[in-house]
Parts: sequence; C-alpha cells; structure tokens
Amino acid sequence: MKLTGKTAVYGIIGHPVKHSLSPLMQTAAFRALGIDAVYVPFDVAPENLGDAVNGLRALNVKGFNVTVPHKEGVIEYLDFLDEDAEFLGAVNTVKNEDGQLTGYNTDADGFLQSLIEEGIELEGKRITMFGAGGAARAVGYAVLKGGAKFLNVVNRSFSKGKVVGELLGKRGNVLVFPLKETTVATLLKDTDIVINTTSVGMKPGDPPLFDYSLIPEGITVVDIIYNPAETPLLKAAKEKGCKIVNGLGMLIHQGAIAFKIWTGKEAPVEFMRRIVEEELYG
Ligand code: ATR
Repeated sequence: MKLTGKTAVYGIIGHPVKHSLSPLMQTAAFRALGIDAVYVPFDVAPENLGDAVNGLRALNVKGFNVTVPHKEGVIEYLDFLDEDAEFLGAVNTVKNEDGQLTGYNTDADGFLQSLIEEGIELEGKRITMFGAGGAARAVGYAVLKGGAKFLNVVNRSFSKGKVVGELLGKRGNVLVFPLKETTVATLLKDTDIVINTTSVGMKPGDPPLFDYSLIPEGITVVDIIYNPAETPLLKAAKEKGCKIVNGLGMLIHQGAIAFKIWTGKEAPVEFMRRIVEEELYG
C-alpha cells in the first residue's frame, strides 16, 4: 500500500472506537477497488465532538462514519441531512464535499438490504421487535419502510418504548408493550418476524430476553447481534425450524451503503463480509 500526497482520508469517530470493525472493512473495500484512500479510527470524547467535526471538515477528510455516542450529537455540526437521518435524528455516515458536510443514516437501509439478501419479504408482515434504543429506531423504521403490516415494540422500560413507538408511529402501525412473559406469549402467536435489537445475548451468561420456547415454529427470527454469530435466541429459533438471520449482514451493508455514498461505486460486499467474518469468527 502506497500513501501519496493524493491519498484521500476517511475515518470513523466514536468513543470508544477501538472495537469498531469499520477500519478493517472499509480499508479492505478501498484496496479491493484500487481506490487511493485510507480509513482511520478517531476516538473523540463527547466534549471534543464539535472541534473534531470541524477539524475533519478543515482537514478535508472526505467522509467519516459516526458511532456511539455521537450519532445524535454530531447533527448540530453538519450542514445537510438526508431524509432517513433527519427522521431518525441520528447520523452514522457523513460526506464532505468542499467543506459542506451531509449526514446520512445507512443503518435502516443496511438492515433492509440484509433481509433482502436472505430472501426475507417484509410486505404485509407482522413484526415483533424487542428493544427501544438507537438500533431499534433504525430497524423499526426499516421494517415499516419495507411495508410491514404492523410493528410491536416490546421493551423492558415501557416509557422508553413509548418514545420510540411515538416516533415510528408516524410511519406505520406501531404498538408498544412492556417486556412481560404473558404479553410476549400473546404477541408471538400472531407474529411472522421476531427481531432482537437489545444487547441481550452478547455475553455468554446473559439470562434470556423471554422464554424462547414461545417462539412459533417456522417463523423468521432476526438478531442484530453478530458476535456471537448464533445467540441463544437464534439457537432456540433454529431448533424450532425458524429461518434465522444475525446482524452481520446489517453491519456489512450499512458500511457498503456508506462506501457508495462516498465513492459513487458499488462496494465489494462479499469481500468485505469475508474479511469481517475472518476477524470475528476466525
Ligand atoms: P443501542 O443504541 O445499541 O440500541 P441502547 O440505546 O443502550 O443501545 O439500547 C439498549 C436496548 O436493550 C434497550 O431497549 C434496553 O432496554 P431498556 O430501554 O429497558 O433499558 C435493552 N436491554 C438491555 N439490556 C437488557 C436486559 N437485560 N433485558 C431487557 N432489555 C435489555
């Protein structure tokens, strides 16, 4: 790899940022397409966010991703927002054109793309989604965009669930429920697709989100966690003959869409996936 005076610079801001897979994935994509660019991690403490964004602008960094905890806070330093970013109030991708910064949110379309590649149809489907954090907003918005018949939002904190329900309710039929066994049992009887957006299942000893024996046979179960590749939820669903999807596709596709926004070129999706899989699962 040769760095020259013409090498374009891209990056990611987050805090922390050391676990991000984006530097690996985006660098691989630039190499694969022979694009003269580097992609570097920037750990930015919240109090430095404004300085950092204006610095990236001044340094003519061509584009950057934004991760936790800056997805909402970055907005006030940008010049334009695309429709998804504006609706969600969150940005994960910024493009710098002659000092004008435009914020995008590729999480929702990344999620949609990950279902499309698995042959999962959303049109008319009844969805039950667990969680009401930042990820849930993007995923819930995506399924409504994809034509879901209705979306049940189930969250431990009912008040947080309500906030997300109110937002997503502008785009479709959304009901909010507390995370209670009897409620979940009733909802799952009339559900085509279950989606987990909570962090439950990331750590080995995590108690289950709900009684997984309640999962109906043969439905689709999606977990946006990608490490482990098969969470206890997905394992249980698989045993019930369900179609299962983890979060790797969403990770890859949000990055692939960002890559296209920056370069105008189709990202080498399969190559990016192989590189990330190797890093995660060996
Ligand atoms: P992200 O931005 O990744 O979505 P987040 O905003 O911290 O992360 O949201 C985490 C989600 O996981 C929330 O919906 C949280 O539920 P609460 O709103 O009740 O906190 C959910 N979550 C985390 N740990 C959980 C647990 N042990 N049981 C149930 N839900 C959990």
